[in-house]
Amino acid sequence: TVLGVFVSGRGSNLQAILDAIHAGTLNASVGVVISDNPQAQAFSRLDGTGIPSLCIERRSFSSREAFETALADALESCKVDLVVLAGFMRLLGPVFLRRFTGRVMNVHPSLLPAFPGLDPQGQAIRYGVKLSGCTVHFVDEGMDSGPVILQQAVPVLPEDTTDTLAQRILEQEHLLYPLAISLYSQGRLQICGRQVKIIESEEV
Ligand code: GRF
Repeated sequence: TVLGVFVSGRGSNLQAILDAIHAGTLNASVGVVISDNPQAQAFSRLDGTGIPSLCIERRSFSSREAFETALADALESCKVDLVVLAGFMRLLGPVFLRRFTGRVMNVHPSLLPAFPGLDPQGQAIRYGVKLSGCTVHFVDEGMDSGPVILQQAVPVLPEDTTDTLAQRILEQEHLLYPLAISLYSQGRLQICGRQVKIIESEEV
């Protein structure tokens, strides 16, 4: 499975994916990393890997459609099978998603459908929940709204700040995202409406 990873910032999930590939627990390759942000720290994660990267900025295009066409064209020319959003801070619309139907994943640091959108860890603390976590899901046109693939809960502790909770959740993201991608690469994820069925490995 050839991955196209979309990043906007730090790139710790990209790092976790690269590490899982290196460790042999994820049978995939990263064909290209694309960022909408020329300053993304994530680019430095690619030093010495030989993995190509591209910066495609929204402001270089007169419309969202033209921007999304450029993203999809770049992925196709790199023969990408699965698009992995890893801290990509933009919503993708129909022009993009029509070309990668059922082939775009995201990780979000809450137990969806709780706390979609920005600052989910802060939202969790302000709400007062005792459990939060992370979700890997397929992407649709909504905000963090597509079919759920995997979730992992973590406790919210009384002394937590947004940062301490975010760190506890992030550790789980780094385990969960490579696992979800691995299930996809083994052909073990089946989307039926909103449900994602995980097929036992003997059945594949
Ligand atoms: C992660 O918390 C991810 O769940 C969210 O954005 C953050 C990205 O972090 N979508 P990183 O760039 O992977 O370090």
